[in-house]
Amino acid sequence: MTQFSDSSPIFQQEAVLREEHRPDELPEREREIEDLHMSLAPAARGVGANNVFLHGKAGQGKTAAAKAKLAELQQHAEQESEHLDLTTCYISCESHDLSTSYKAAARIYQELTEDSRPTGHATDVVMDMMFEAMDDIGGTIIIVLDEIDTLSDDDRILYSLPRARAQGYVDDHVFPSIIGISNDLQWRDTLSPKVKSSLYDDSVLFAPYDATQLQQILYRRATKAFRDTELIPLEDSATTADSGTVVTVDESGRKHRFQSDVLTDDVIPLIAALSAQDTGDARQAIKYLRKASELADKHNETQVREKHARKAQALVERETVVEAMREMTTQAHLALAALTVLDFAGDTPVRANPIYGVYKQIATKTDADKLGQRRFKDHLRELDMQGIADGEKVTAGSIGGPAWEYQLQVDTDIAVEVLNDTTRFADIDFHQLNQRR
Ligand SMILES: Nc1ncnc2c1ncn2[C@@H]1O[C@H](COP(=O)(O)OP(=O)(O)O)[C@@H](O)[C@H]1O
Ligand SMILES: [Mg+2]
Repeated sequence: MTQFSDSSPIFQQEAVLREEHRPDELPEREREIEDLHMSLAPAARGVGANNVFLHGKAGQGKTAAAKAKLAELQQHAEQESEHLDLTTCYISCESHDLSTSYKAAARIYQELTEDSRPTGHATDVVMDMMFEAMDDIGGTIIIVLDEIDTLSDDDRILYSLPRARAQGYVDDHVFPSIIGISNDLQWRDTLSPKVKSSLYDDSVLFAPYDATQLQQILYRRATKAFRDTELIPLEDSATTADSGTVVTVDESGRKHRFQSDVLTDDVIPLIAALSAQDTGDARQAIKYLRKASELADKHNETQVREKHARKAQALVERETVVEAMREMTTQAHLALAALTVLDFAGDTPVRANPIYGVYKQIATKTDADKLGQRRFKDHLRELDMQGIADGEKVTAGSIGGPAWEYQLQVDTDIAVEVLNDTTRFADIDFHQLNQRR
């Protein structure tokens, strides 16, 4: 059995590789943070901040940038400014499960007042309570609505909050504004024109990191996380041994030598390249580095090497897909189940019609609702979008549009494992189902 140990030959400060760690600087986002600064600057002059919208794919430093800038403004308000009376409030719509205006308003009310969460009122009443709480506080109030796209079907709060002053929902001595953050680039297009035009004054796009930027982020993080790992400015390195890779660590272009007894030279460039090929996600890159080092540590090795990084990537990728599969609805699970059975039969890639046939059989067997063909196809497309299946357009079909062929993108065994883990499919033997077909 593996023993627990309270020290590791690899880690110096393992916590900096965790999700909760907040970096003190984000040089790769200097321009975006400057834009955000411009949007918040009117607050320091006592006229309220602009409503601003930060968008870009996941892991691009949006949350980190917003928190860093707000902390700076807060510090300015407390230490330097005599007339900035600032209240900030950070809310993650995703992790607080705020899918409706009611829930969001109740949460904001709760954060502003430290009262318990209002329940059993109409939405309008809770919104009024939220605005009254703002009247009581007064001054500049900046509300961060992170993962704002979670508030999908219900846009009342998105309409009233950014225009609270203009609409007279709050008193004259209150200057509320929002910082909306979204990982979903298309989300804005789904809003009604009325909401879209009032939601924000400024918007800041966080474009995906490239491999060099991801390397920089990882090098800075690694020096904190690992033992005997340093970045030495090149002009100083004449005094030290000439080993290690020459790298940049921020946007200044100044060169440093990366020296580590723990990480071999190829690990960070490899992880950065893998993540840049994918979506340039810094969260993912840091996760690869953490997993790679945990793997080395687990096997009592004193160096994190390329093989650990590759293994880490495979593990994380698998985890991500498994998680996405677990969270799917019953109908998506049924579509996945049908495709899995056909995959066992060696019949994939396969068109939607035969998948639909198997789907109906499984739905009967598991006592689930059967969708019509058209809605069923939406679920196949969803599997495709999530990277669980791969749909490919074959020939432009003569009648009824082009035909699509689907195949599983994940290991059949993983699909079966996830399906058997859900109650509805717990007793289904997918191998047998295939033979009985
Ligand atoms: N430029 C950067 N420098 C250092 N760390 C960064 C940088 N950008 C992102 N990160 C880190 O990557 C992770 C994801 O960043 P986050 O701000 O949560 O992304 P987003 O909100 O865009 O999904 C966090 O752990 C954050 O600390
Ligand atoms: Mg975020």
